[in-house]
Amino acid sequence: MKRIIFWIAAVFLGIQLIPVDRENKPVDRSQNFVDINKTPEDIKVILKNTCYDCHSNETEYPTYSYIAPISWTIKDHINEGRKHLNFSEWGSYNKDLKENAIEKTISTVESQEMPLPSYIGYHPKANLTTIQRKALEKYFKNQDIK
Ligand code: HEC
Repeated sequence: MKRIIFWIAAVFLGIQLIPVDRENKPVDRSQNFVDINKTPEDIKVILKNTCYDCHSNETEYPTYSYIAPISWTIKDHINEGRKHLNFSEWGSYNKDLKENAIEKTISTVESQEMPLPSYIGYHPKANLTTIQRKALEKYFKNQDIK
């Protein structure tokens, strides 16, 4: 029994040594969604509190994100999230990508797929009220894409 506990502890400590890249790329304001679109403050706050941790280069890592194996799941969500939509690199998207991202943003917020439900449990601010969801949807519906 002691030996089993020893090995579990050893593996747990061992996996802490596997590096996880948490470095954020610098944010270029000229490419950043909220800067380009001069997003009003209330919507900006919602986006930062509920989407930017996974869909921007301004991710804030909570303390538990430093503990493997949770850290791997979190990093995976961030990598996947950024791949689908990165608000920090909005300026580099072409018209099609922007239109698609806006459409998906509206539908995922409406269907409550986003923010990821697993994220809300740890981020009470991301638990959007119906009014906040509606405001976000309305804001994206009114986006004029150039
Ligand atoms: C905890 C991380 C996380 C947060 C927070 C988060 N997302 Fe996502 N998002 C993901 C991941 C992972 C994917 C890709 C897999 C998927 O579609 O479930 C994704 C996919 C998307 C997509 C693409 C969907 C598609 O079908 O291509 C959109 C649009 C999106 N998110 C919008 C948002 C918006 C808007 C918010 C804030 C209201 C948000 N997300 C918050 C992780 C997150």
